[in-house]
Amino acid sequence: MNASFNDTFLKACRGEKTDYTPIWMMRQAGRYLPEYQKVRGNVTFLELCKNPELCVEVTLQPVDILRVDAAILFSDILIPMEAMGAPLYFHEGRGPIFPEPIRTTEALNKLIVPDPDEHTGFVMETIRLLRQELKVPLIGFSGAPFTLATYLIEGGSSKVFWETKKMMFTQPALFHALMDKISQCTILYLQAQARAGAQALQIFDSWAGVLAPCDFAEFALPYVQRIISKLQDTGLPIIYFANNGATLLKLSATTGADVLGLDWRINIGDAIRQVGDRAVQGNIDPFALLLPKDKLRQRIADLLEGAKEAYGHIFNLGHGIHQFTPPEQAKIAIDAVHELSAR
Ligand code: CP3
Repeated sequence: MNASFNDTFLKACRGEKTDYTPIWMMRQAGRYLPEYQKVRGNVTFLELCKNPELCVEVTLQPVDILRVDAAILFSDILIPMEAMGAPLYFHEGRGPIFPEPIRTTEALNKLIVPDPDEHTGFVMETIRLLRQELKVPLIGFSGAPFTLATYLIEGGSSKVFWETKKMMFTQPALFHALMDKISQCTILYLQAQARAGAQALQIFDSWAGVLAPCDFAEFALPYVQRIISKLQDTGLPIIYFANNGATLLKLSATTGADVLGLDWRINIGDAIRQVGDRAVQGNIDPFALLLPKDKLRQRIADLLEGAKEAYGHIFNLGHGIHQFTPPEQAKIAIDAVHELSAR
């Protein structure tokens, strides 16, 4: 590794001593940055995701502008679902839409397990290009099977997950078969990202928090465990983030992940006491970035204090940065974490 490479983030993932607490922000490349808006003004979101040069540009924006300690590949968790054969488009107001939802055996049988290099080569190309530019580690990612299944079954975003839970409870074999196929796809997809040069892998389980712990244990967790076990030989740190997952934390600790992402609904000290020798990532409320500077710095100081017994701590938001957040506020938070945690 060359001398100017900043590996603080990777050290924290592994529970090694660091000079300061590293920070990155979920959704750090995105609409709150005018520089992103400018690139996005000329292309649709999916065109952007499939253009490696533009993906490199927007991935680097927060690294250059905000000085975060890790980059996250610019893409979307739904890209490999489209590669499985589910038509996908992004609606400007309503978000992702799958116009042909997967609710029957016939629909499931039509999905393929794609070769990631062949069907999502643009993602791997983005990773290879980024590694030539970056002086901080590159995080690759996927969705977790349950979260991906909700989009395929509902046909887009949902609030109540009626179709998903209906399938889980009335057609469990079909639900498990879909989860199995998504998991096969995800394993190959993350292995390909590792080969292309990703230096850590995050699995986003944005909707795990809508499940009762017993249903999470039966219908979602085994697939995350399988994926993580298949990634062990990459040697990369694996981060598992279950949004709204405070009640699932003890179960999440059995996924095999090196790092557990935390949303803001749990006190970080309480979380640390539940996860054992495992690093944590989080967990300031993304809206707390709106606090006046002195209050924001105080909140960050308190969070750092609460995390001081952590096996390892990576500072992050408890979920993605909101699109109307002033970038200056993000910068204040990042500088404060660096300054207040310096050892
Ligand atoms: O900077 C980064 O974090 C990397 C890029 C990234 C995006 N999406 C870009 C994006 C990552 C890691 C994701 C993950 C993702 N995508 C998740 C998991 C994280 C989470 O937020 O819980 C989910 C659930 C999705 C699915 C998705 N993509 C939705 C529901 C939406 C619409 C809602 C929204 O915020 O607009 C997207 C679109 C999306 N993904 C945007 C970006 C920058 C906005 C697209 C635009 O430019 O219009």
